[in-house]
Amino acid sequence: MERPKIAQSLIVFMLAGTLLTSCRSSDPTDPGYEYMPQMYRSPSYETNSMNPNFKDSMTSRLPVQGSIPRGFKPYAYPNTLEGYEAAGKDLKNPFTATDENVAEGKRLFEIFCMHCHGAQGKGDGMMVMNGKFPPPPSYSGPLKDLTVGKMYHTLQYGKNMMGSHASQLNVDERWKIILYVQALQKLGNDSTAQTK
Ligand code: HEC
Repeated sequence: MERPKIAQSLIVFMLAGTLLTSCRSSDPTDPGYEYMPQMYRSPSYETNSMNPNFKDSMTSRLPVQGSIPRGFKPYAYPNTLEGYEAAGKDLKNPFTATDENVAEGKRLFEIFCMHCHGAQGKGDGMMVMNGKFPPPPSYSGPLKDLTVGKMYHTLQYGKNMMGSHASQLNVDERWKIILYVQALQKLGNDSTAQTK
């Protein structure tokens, strides 16, 4: 009795195999029968595609108002004269002027600031010397007593002709550059003075 049963199931198995494989279309690129097609074809919307589920039809959504990205430190002072004065009074540099921090500040200054402010912060950078930009005031001249809070505020929002650097420099980088600007403030107006 055992033998015919095995033969029977073998025939059913082969028949099922033939049926399944012969259901393919003649197109060789057609995958044929797909088991759980949603695993292959995601029902999600492409980032920049129209989306019927939202009134403004944008698939790419903005973060919920008031949400803060991980690791991001909100800046408490508004972009006003009062904000500038308050930041100037309250903010302190969390970094100390170790050789390492000042050297890092110098490195960043030479990338992001020197072309306008000049190597010694005297307002004679390359952009100024070739007439493309009006000279910024000298750090060791009119800006020699400028507080670090005001510097930070200017890096955050920009000031007149100087643009904001908030998207180029993270909080720590800004403070390290400020350490170097403080070193340049001490140079005095003698243009032959050197920083270490
Ligand atoms: C495109 C040219 C340009 C670049 C780049 C630039 N600055 Fe300035 N910066 C200026 C000008 C112009 C002013 C004068 C703004 C004013 O007071 O009207 C200024 C002003 C300043 C002041 C004085 C702000 C105050 O409160 O009066 C500081 C400090 C300063 N810049 C630092 C930096 C640092 C640090 C960088 C690099 C991260 C930088 N700047 C990059 C052009 C530039």
